Amino acid sequence: MRRFLPLLLVALTAAGATVASFALSARWWLAAGPLLALTGLGGRDLLQRRRSLPRNYPLLAHLRYPTTRSAHSSDARAKEGEERDEFLVPSLRPVEAAEEPPVVRVGGPDCRLPYDMALLNVSAMSFGALSPQAVLALNRGAALGRFAQDTGEGGLSEYHLRGGGDLVWEIGSGYFGCRGPDGGFDAREFADKAALPEVKCVSVKLSQGATPGSGGVLPGVKVSAEVARERRVPEGVTVVSPPGHREFSTPRELVLFLARLREAAGGKPTGLKLCVGSRREFLALCRAMAAEGVTPDFVIVDGSEGGTGSGPTQAAGRLGMPLTQGLITVHNALVGVGLRDRVRIGASGRVATGADIVRRLAQGADYTNAARAMMLALGCVRARRCHTGACPAGVATQDPLRARALNVADKARRVRHYQRETVRDAVRIMAAMGVREPGELTPAHLLRRSGPGVLCSYAELYEWLAPGELLAGPPQSWAADWKAASPDDFG
Ligand SMILES: Cc1cc2nc3c(=O)[nH]c(=O)nc-3n(C[C@H](O)[C@H](O)[C@H](O)COP(=O)(O)O)c2cc1C
Repeated sequence: MRRFLPLLLVALTAAGATVASFALSARWWLAAGPLLALTGLGGRDLLQRRRSLPRNYPLLAHLRYPTTRSAHSSDARAKEGEERDEFLVPSLRPVEAAEEPPVVRVGGPDCRLPYDMALLNVSAMSFGALSPQAVLALNRGAALGRFAQDTGEGGLSEYHLRGGGDLVWEIGSGYFGCRGPDGGFDAREFADKAALPEVKCVSVKLSQGATPGSGGVLPGVKVSAEVARERRVPEGVTVVSPPGHREFSTPRELVLFLARLREAAGGKPTGLKLCVGSRREFLALCRAMAAEGVTPDFVIVDGSEGGTGSGPTQAAGRLGMPLTQGLITVHNALVGVGLRDRVRIGASGRVATGADIVRRLAQGADYTNAARAMMLALGCVRARRCHTGACPAGVATQDPLRARALNVADKARRVRHYQRETVRDAVRIMAAMGVREPGELTPAHLLRRSGPGVLCSYAELYEWLAPGELLAGPPQSWAADWKAASPDDFG
């Protein structure tokens, strides 16, 4: 309640000064006038429903805006710095931009209910990390714009199901949403929920870029009674998902688990999400796919630059491959084992603009997901307090008073608008490059400055395998990892 104190103090002083100006001297109006104006401003902050920050912090929000803006621009500058040396290649024979945004069909040969995925979707963020209002606004936004929302590893909450949006149901190592009494996977509950019409795909989370090698964390301050019920964990106690899954410990067991989930889900597309660590590990997974004849319908590659709702991590950006390397590794490995046409690749890691989408498609992705950019569309002001439960914008909190400031209908429209305009931008950029379909983009469409006055395309900068090349005889650069990769050991 301390956040309402400044307004209260200003209002009381304004009242005092007004009384004094009548009772003592008209000079008091010099103080009463501005104070009354400030009180009016604070009152308007409290009553308006469009912006969450002033609703939660009447008056104070006006002091914050300049600092928030500078935080935004310094992040934007960091990203610009990284990408300053990259260019997409326009064509002298541009084409007309497609009217309808393209979609990507997800579903390999064992999938009976393929899903048409948008080029940009809501990346995994769980109920718990996000407020009920934020989850619902993303869901409604997804329904309005016909794109998908990944539930994150916190289970399928009622807020994921209320807005009518398409869902990718993520299953993490804590198996929230299909968690048996012993904390393991509950196959019956999984089958019941996977049958829901809103669930279009199932994703097994192996790791995420911000915290590869360790399980997701939800700080106790965000484990409200409702979140605790949803996850079947004690209220108010920090939830730490185990670092690994109980259901499998080898690549072969993992692909068989995926096949089991797909069957239990009635044939819905089933895939996995990971931040790539070693190339050998991913090749071990490819060996298991080839050995069992089982492929995931999609692989979501998360870059080590990824975000999290659980606070700053020591390893941020240092553990795991950045998205560019992870994406190229996964794409090449799947091409090399001749399975690329069965598996779609999603990419997440600072995707925010149309150019980001096109760049990732040129590097080997089929579609992209965004988490933090979607949070900005929800009104996130990057206060970096996600882990404290005190999000000033009502996005990453379970405090009902803070969360209520988030106007679901308005933010759903903003999420939809952001996704639509970003995809439109990507389509316009592709058209300028002479590309009609995302599948036509290749590494040759992306250039990088690799030294003073030297521009190379990604086709030249990286090694790109031919379909089936690993099976036919791997190039020397891949031979050692391919030889060492075993379907029965992640290595
Ligand atoms: C608040 C928040 C919560 C997240 N929760 C999950 C999660 O439950 N499961 C997961 O796989 N990734 C989670 N992530 C990671 C994102 O899905 C995404 O992979 C990563 O942030 C990179 O995308 P971005 O750069 O667009 O944020 C979370 C990220 C944020 C910011």
